[in-house]
Formats: sequence, structure tokens, C-alpha cells
Amino acid sequence: MLYRLEQLTLSPAGHLSWGGCDAVELAAAFGTPLYVVDEEQVRERCRQYRSAADRYLGDAEVHYAGKAFLNIAMCQLVEEEELGLDVVSGGELYTALKAGFPADRIILHGSNKSQQELEMALEAGVRIVVDSLSELELLEELVSQGRRARVLLRYTPGVRAGTHRFIETGVADSKFGLPSLDACLEAVGRCLDNPAVSLDGLHCHIGSQIVNVAPFAEATEILTGLLGEVKRRFGAELPLLNLGGGLGVRYRPGDRVPSVDEYLAGLGAVIRASLDREGLKPPRVIIEPGRSIVAEAGITLYRAGVAKEIPGVRRYVSVDGGLPDNPRPALYGAEYHAILANRPRERAELTYTVAGKTCESGDIIIREVNLPEVHRGDLVAVFATGAYNYSMASNYNRLPRPGVVFVRNGHARWVVARETYDDLVARDLPL
Ligand code: LLP
Repeated sequence: MLYRLEQLTLSPAGHLSWGGCDAVELAAAFGTPLYVVDEEQVRERCRQYRSAADRYLGDAEVHYAGKAFLNIAMCQLVEEEELGLDVVSGGELYTALKAGFPADRIILHGSNKSQQELEMALEAGVRIVVDSLSELELLEELVSQGRRARVLLRYTPGVRAGTHRFIETGVADSKFGLPSLDACLEAVGRCLDNPAVSLDGLHCHIGSQIVNVAPFAEATEILTGLLGEVKRRFGAELPLLNLGGGLGVRYRPGDRVPSVDEYLAGLGAVIRASLDREGLKPPRVIIEPGRSIVAEAGITLYRAGVAKEIPGVRRYVSVDGGLPDNPRPALYGAEYHAILANRPRERAELTYTVAGKTCESGDIIIREVNLPEVHRGDLVAVFATGAYNYSMASNYNRLPRPGVVFVRNGHARWVVARETYDDLVARDLPL
């Protein structure tokens, strides 16, 4: 059964249990701060996506967006669950290939890919989402040296996703994608004219943490319209339609988001109606969920340190991580929920601000959360940190990055080792 924030599972000792493991024992064995990911929950989400895609989108491809959380073990899991993989840099591509991920199930994205990244993708036989005319030019030069490219073209549909503006990517004023119909059709024409380029389809991605189906439906409508335009102008019916990712997740109890079924049923309905209207054969649909595969399966365990009350102002508790392992509150004003993992049954009757340990007043993980009275040594569990935490972590203040533990059926193992102080200086060179 999927975890619900409203319904926690406790260990026999009365502590928070995650993937069948007692959180207090995890912290003792692996240290803090610690990213803990419930492997079964991630697999369950992959399967939900697969089966909902089969039901509502026909013969569709589900590609996990690696930027949410990527390492060798995650690539292996995604491969085992028979999803494709979306990568966005040479580093992500390298990780996937190193994990033995099949190249024909990888798609390379990126708004400013380097020549080296494009060459790496061509060499591996990975499909490429071309983001601009400038990139297309570079690719045309590279394929003129005897290589072939399979590409999709990213179009900016001019749709508001209704999410934080830093993570809206489909609006007209965006660094992502081909910005106009003319630019897109020019790119289509150039690809179709080039025997070394196989134009597989069109792509769009309108943003992330989207909590309504309507913007997805709007973008889908625009993209199917564009497929129709390509057919009218060039007589070509493109075989793939990639609609990106973006489904939101629940960060706090009471948050409401569309289910995977609601989301994909919504896309399916629009696709059927608009293909009929355009008189097109159904293309194969690709979706690229990242956050909604991993976010809710992950928690971060922190050790509480200094607790202080400023009378009439605020009660703080500081933990042993913060902004370097979770920059999302500082970047997007993201809101999280936490409990005391060692005393989850106690009444949460005091309001705390959970602060990180770096030298920034803005290093606040949670502005307001109710907890029992917190003492040094208590274990704070922050929920829904599986996406865009580990993958966005830094070493600010020279804090070693936490490791990642996968938990499953009561067993826990490192999938990314914790960094050490030696790791921090490993690339430093003396004067
Ligand atoms: N496809 C493309 C082309 C993308 O750019 C993204 C995310 C995805 C798929 C996956 O979107 P998701 O399903 O995860 O929403 N750092 C931000 C999120 C940035 C998302 C970037 N693109 C955050 O922490 O909220």
C-alpha cells in the first residue's frame, strides 16, 4: 500500500518506520543527515505509471526524468521496472550508460547542450530532444561527419502551468524550446530534408509540481495541433509525441494533487479528441515523470541540535543539515512537513521553525510545523524529500553531502555513500 502522510507506519519500538526499517535504528547505523528512500514505493509508482499509461495512452512510453534523483542504483531500478530514462547532461548520460541502461531507451534533453554532450549521445545512439535552431545547426554539422541522429523537437506552447515561476517552462518568455510556430516548422523542414536526421516527433514540457490537469490538457491540444500542421505543410505524420513531466506531489498532510490515473486519463481524452479533429494516426505518446515517481518515497532524517525560544517571536530548532541537502525552501519557498521520528506518537503541541545549520538566515527547512517539545538528539524526519533534494545538493559551508539509503522489507543499504571530509578536499590542489 502506498504511504500516506496522514497515516504513518510505526515500528514495534513505536518509532517511525520507513520501508519496514525503524528510523532510529537507521540513524544509528547510517548517521545523519540521511536520505532514506523506500524502494518498494518507487517501484510501485513506476508500475502505476506503466499501467495507467497502458490504460489511457495506448502503447505509450514512460520515461523517468533522472534530474529528480539519479544514481547507478536508481538507473538499475528504472531499467528493471521497464521505464525509459530522460537525461539532461553528459553527467546524467554517463551515469545511465555506466549503470548499463539500454541506450535506445534514453532521451537526452537540455537547453544548452555542449558539442561534447551531443557527440556522446550520437556515439551511444541516444535520442536527442533538440531545443533550439542553434542546437540544430550544431547537430547538422556533427551528423555531416557520417553519424545519424534520431531527434525530437521541443516546442514552447505558451502555456501557464500555475506553479512557481522558477519551474514554469512552457510560457512564451522561456529559455527552453523553439519559441514560435515559424521556428518549429523551420526546424521540422530542415530535419525532414536531412537524410542523416530522423525526426521522430515533437516534445513539450510546461513545468513541474503542477497540481491541475488543465494546463497539461492545454499543452497537449497545442502539440497535437502542431502535429496536424506538420502533416499539412510537409505531408509527414511524426510517430512520437512527448508531453514531458510535471505532475505535482503531496508535500504536506492535506495537500491535494491529481492521481496518476486522473492525469493520464485527462491527457488521453484530449489526445483522442484532437487527433480525430486533425485526422491523424495516433502517435506513440511519451511522458517523463520525475518528481511524482520519487518524491513521496523519500524522507530526510536529521539530528536535532540547538533548540531556542525567542519569547513572543519564534521557537527554533536547528538540525544537522539544511540548505545544502535541501535548497528547495530557499529557492522556491517550498513547504515541507516533519515529525519527531523517535517520538511520533507524542502530541505535537508546539510550533517550531526548523532551521538548517549553514550561515544563512534563509536556511529554513520548515517555517512552521507542530512538534512535541524538541530536545538535542531527537530525530527529525522531513517528508517527501525524494525528488530534487539529493540531486540538487551542494557542499555549501563544506558540509559533506549525506548518503542515500534504500530501504525495502526491513532491509537497508547504501546506494550512495555518505561523503567524507577527505572527499571534500580530494580535488583541492595546494598553492
Ligand atoms: N521533462 C523535462 C524536459 C523536464 O525539464 C523535467 C523537469 C521533467 C521532465 C520532470 O518534471 P517533474 O515530473 O519532475 O516535474 N528543481 C525543481 C524542479 C525542476 C524541474 C525541471 N524539469 C524543483 O525542485 O522543484
